[in-house]
Amino acid sequence: MSQKEAGKRILSGVQPSGKLHLGNYFGAVKQHIELQNSGECFYFIADYHSLTTVHDAKTLSQNTLDVALDYLALGLDPAKAVFFRQSDVPEVNELAWILSTVTNMGLLERAVSYKEKVDKGIDASVGLFYYPILMAADILIYRSSLVPVGKDQVQHIEMTQDIAGKFNRCFGEIFPIPGFRLDKESKVPGVDGQKMSKSYGNTIEIFAEGKPLEKRVMGIVTDSTPVESPKDPTKCNVFALYSLFASEAEKTALEQKYRSGGMGYGEAKKALLAKVNEHFSAAREKRKELASRPGEVEDILKAGARRAREEARATIRLVRRAVGMKDEPTL
Ligand code: ADP
Ligand code: TRP
Repeated sequence: MSQKEAGKRILSGVQPSGKLHLGNYFGAVKQHIELQNSGECFYFIADYHSLTTVHDAKTLSQNTLDVALDYLALGLDPAKAVFFRQSDVPEVNELAWILSTVTNMGLLERAVSYKEKVDKGIDASVGLFYYPILMAADILIYRSSLVPVGKDQVQHIEMTQDIAGKFNRCFGEIFPIPGFRLDKESKVPGVDGQKMSKSYGNTIEIFAEGKPLEKRVMGIVTDSTPVESPKDPTKCNVFALYSLFASEAEKTALEQKYRSGGMGYGEAKKALLAKVNEHFSAAREKRKELASRPGEVEDILKAGARRAREEARATIRLVRRAVGMKDEPTL
């Protein structure tokens, strides 16, 4: 355990908006799982957040189960980390409302992820705009001190710091100011070289296997340098992805093959495919096993929710009192 993280309350959420991919894994999930040995971890499936993009009941509930299975199969240990569904703790919405009253419009208007979606022509709901406030409530209601995330979420943590500071100045020191923790792999490229993202349709799913996985890997976009010519590994998506799985020695060996020529991209893709298969083979088996026992997954999420809700209720009592309300609804 690193000294820095010892004793800290660590929290993060993941949206159930599609199948988890290598970007999610190297940018978020992997560090979440490693951190469960380093402090008190709260991890949740952000289904309220997903409602900003998923408007189909079956899809939302299926995606929620999928994310739960993915995390558990990849090594999340419910004996070490509190694992739950965001919507099992509805108090978070009450806190979000209260926080919204100390949040300036200008702060939300500067949110890059919101602006990007609007620029792409996505029809913006009020919920999408309000999203960072709900995220701040997620973090603050568990009085978290450290939030491990990918780079694209950092601005949301900075907004949370602002909102918590403003609340504390108005109503007293209720919230610890949270920090973020970035994993070093903060921008995993997709099969087309853009950032890997569900919304760009360029992902390699963690639990893809067999033919579909092979098709995906063999379809990674490369340039048209002929087989015999030397190639630049620093400009190649296949090499970037391979590097995530490989040891230093393996990376150096493949780099030399690129630079000396005589190796086609197909060979590099096969090496990557072998790495993906090797890395996730145990997790795939575990996922299949868990998927055949959905009741067990539900029990894990329920136990997590019980623990999380206890904590959330304690915070909301403090908040209600601080703003001048009864600690709890009187009826
Ligand atoms: P997506 O872009 O596929 O919708 P999310 O926004 O749901 O992914 O991201 C979930 C988590 O995974 C976040 O912490 C995010 O920063 C991380 N993440 C997503 N894509 C990548 C990527 N390509 N590289 C690194 N981290 C990523
Ligand atoms: N917005 C995050 C994402 O898309 C998910 C999320 C919701 C989250 N609430 C959070 C992450 C609180 C960290 C802390 O990835």
